[in-house]
Amino acid sequence: MTQNPESKAPAQPALALLQQRVSHPRLTDPGPSQAQMADLYRAAMRAPDHAWLRPWRFIDVSGDDRTRLGEHMAHSARTDDPGLTDKQYQKLLNSPLRAPLVLIAWAKISEHPKVPAIEQVLATGAAVTNLINAAHALGIGAVWRTGAPAYSPTLKQTLGLAATDHIVGFIYLGTPSGEDKPIPALNPADFVSQLPA
Ligand SMILES: Cc1cc2nc3c(=O)[nH]c(=O)nc-3n(C[C@H](O)[C@H](O)[C@H](O)COP(=O)(O)O)c2cc1C
Repeated sequence: MTQNPESKAPAQPALALLQQRVSHPRLTDPGPSQAQMADLYRAAMRAPDHAWLRPWRFIDVSGDDRTRLGEHMAHSARTDDPGLTDKQYQKLLNSPLRAPLVLIAWAKISEHPKVPAIEQVLATGAAVTNLINAAHALGIGAVWRTGAPAYSPTLKQTLGLAATDHIVGFIYLGTPSGEDKPIPALNPADFVSQLPA
């Protein structure tokens, strides 16, 4: 691709970062600073967004709030499924403690004649992708998780979301711990085809 001569940013470092991002499932203190989070959110806000509806929302959960989030996740799961085992309950209770910062990324769905809900969810997913790529650029570890809590009507209600809104993910952020896993060698040609005759 030809580089835009008016572009202020050097293309290659950004491209290399995008091509080399990996998730970091093991995260420790410290979490991102407020200044770093401002940069991450600025990147998120540049996601493509049909009709500029700005559907993305982030609930920032750190410190003791992570314990409360774990309680909300576990209680909601038990309300949704009374057969939830104690082991599953305990796992949910502890899950937000796996990183210093957890963002609940959700899509606030608006009625719009040209923008169905799925596009608003996609735009929020794109915002999350921008955010985790920006984290990678700053050396902050990130992993995007969902699991049953993302689809729990009870948790949505507890968090004050409308039934029509969607939790897009729980974004865990912190200092990467351990070795980066190797980047899988995928061949882009395997994912591209031509228009059928
Ligand atoms: C919408 C979405 C939901 C995900 N949910 C989970 C999850 O609940 N648990 C998990 O281990 N990985 C989940 N992942 C995958 C990880 O974020 C990550 O992409 C995966 O471990 C592969 O690592 P990589 O990003 O370094 O290729 C999810 C990814 C997406 C896009």
